[in-house]
Amino acid sequence: MAAARKMIVGNWKMFGTAPMLAEITAIAAAPAGNAKLAICPPFTLIERAARAAQGSALAIGAQDVHAADKGAHTGCISTAMLIDSGATLVIVGHSERRADNFETDAQVKAKATAAVTAGLEAIVCIGETEAQRDNGQTLTVIETQLAGSLPDAADRLVVAYEPVWAIGTGRTPTEPQVAEVHAAIRAHLEKRFGAPGAATPILYGGSVKPENAANLLGLPNVDGALVGGASLTAASFLAIAAAV
Ligand code: G3P
Repeated sequence: MAAARKMIVGNWKMFGTAPMLAEITAIAAAPAGNAKLAICPPFTLIERAARAAQGSALAIGAQDVHAADKGAHTGCISTAMLIDSGATLVIVGHSERRADNFETDAQVKAKATAAVTAGLEAIVCIGETEAQRDNGQTLTVIETQLAGSLPDAADRLVVAYEPVWAIGTGRTPTEPQVAEVHAAIRAHLEKRFGAPGAATPILYGGSVKPENAANLLGLPNVDGALVGGASLTAASFLAIAAAV
């Protein structure tokens, strides 16, 4: 069975104006390592970031997309617009969007389906809240989110496990906790998609930094990382990538 490929993806969230393109240029210039590297800047920087990364192996992605092809959706961005700007991947269902914009599993699935159908890689985020973990509901929550949020095929699919309580807090789950959830995600993917599910990358996200990257990335079924704060400088992003 093919192994999942390794990926380190930076999610810049609502950070970044033109001066930050220097970080993209520096990441793009770094020698290729063992993982595919991608940065997802805000929409406003995608085209310039893609230009800065041109000719390198660095991929540029977006942090969200609308499920519709086009239409009267003020302020929204379609898959065709992302591709036109130079994006090749998109994050969907991030917990910040689920919380701030009340996105449901069904909406996340529609976005992921639109993305993979258009030829983009879709990074579908799932993860439990602290209360859900404390109540012993983690694996049930994960299973429900996987069942409801993933597209119907594994083509161009990436799953990111981001425990909500670990995002931006400096706290990370224990290694057995990460391994347990990633094993459950792998089991779901294999059951649902067969061999392609065994090769679907599963990323961990939540307070990944250079100091903890090697331990997290060494765990079974952890095929890479989705990095927030530590992706904002080339130095820390590349230090994480070097741990693969
Ligand atoms: O999508 C990445 C993210 O939610 C994790 O953020 O800042 O904890 O690495 P951070």
